[in-house]
Amino acid sequence: MLASVLNAMLDGVLLLDGAGHITYGNAAARRLLLVGAGNDAADEKQTTFVLPDERLVAIAGRALRGETLDETLELEAGRRTMRVSAAPLDGGGVGAVLVLHDMTEARRLDRVRQEFVANASHELMTPIGTVRALADALARGGMEDRKAARRFLKQLRVEADRLTALARDLVDLAQAQADELQLELRPTDVAEVIATVLERLHARAAKADVSLEALWEDRPPLVLADAARLEQVLLNLVQNAIKFTGSGGKVTIATETHGAELLIRVSDTGVGIAEADLPRIFERFYKVRGATGSAGGTGLGLAIVRHLVGAMHGEVTVTSEVGHGSAFTVALRRADTNQAVV
Ligand SMILES: Nc1ncnc2c1ncn2[C@@H]1O[C@H](COP(=O)(O)OP(=O)(O)OP(=O)(O)O)[C@@H](O)[C@H]1O
Ligand SMILES: [Mg+2]
Repeated sequence: MLASVLNAMLDGVLLLDGAGHITYGNAAARRLLLVGAGNDAADEKQTTFVLPDERLVAIAGRALRGETLDETLELEAGRRTMRVSAAPLDGGGVGAVLVLHDMTEARRLDRVRQEFVANASHELMTPIGTVRALADALARGGMEDRKAARRFLKQLRVEADRLTALARDLVDLAQAQADELQLELRPTDVAEVIATVLERLHARAAKADVSLEALWEDRPPLVLADAARLEQVLLNLVQNAIKFTGSGGKVTIATETHGAELLIRVSDTGVGIAEADLPRIFERFYKVRGATGSAGGTGLGLAIVRHLVGAMHGEVTVTSEVGHGSAFTVALRRADTNQAVV
């Protein structure tokens, strides 16, 4: 019974005898540490384990000499963070027990959160600083010069709009992360959603002198989706496509049936994305340096897209060629196939 309890634990437990040999390791300990280094992690019977790091050996040695200690180690060249508690076995000098707690994921989440707060604050501080400077300029005589005052007020508006966009993105992102767990998916007509998106972005494309059109041979099959969320996804992708495509360029939305999935592809003939940036553009706040002019957004759009598509059990991928254009593909499950949906 004790063995099953120990094997059900997420923390690793190791027992050492007086000579420092490992006499027992529960399943978690084998998983956490004892892979490689001549150990077979799957073999429960194997008792001749080797500790894979000399700092662990040192901790074990101190516990064997009677010390109780608690240390955090960076293992595998910093890829892994492990908290190690060690103590001598009760009953005098016969061995030691080591408890291993894997903190890698907790540390990573902590870092992501810190970065997010730092980025969000930075994005907020820039427009706030400008608002402050404009207010100062107005207070220091700017109001007497009516022409300058009007210009300052116009800039104030631009900054207010920027703050509004950021706030909206942050709310959307939080919502998308919540949706990831609880969207209700219904058979949805993609053609209708695309038509709405085209209608909403028609004027923007015209203003940017970018042609915007939808292409499909037959009416695409229904997909399992949330129409409003899918619209938000396509709005983001098409807005990006317009934004990163110069005057005279072309943006196309096309659908393609692919087995049990429907692919919705937004392609543009724009600036493209370098291969080194491709894996990062879905990160929150990531923007390709120099790609966006002063009209640039906050870098949250694609993070929202990825969360929403994930919430619809789909996948979003991208291919791109610098100078030639990009294609973002959203794959969603068709509603008309019998394939099981997890
Ligand atoms: N169609 C595209 N062509 C070229 N680069 C793109 C395209 N779509 C996205 N990118 C790059 O990926 C980055 C991240 O896109 P994302 O939509 O997340 O942010 P954004 O458009 O800059 O801001 P936001 O969407 O929050 O207003 C962009 O800043 C841009 O560098
Ligand atoms: Mg965007």
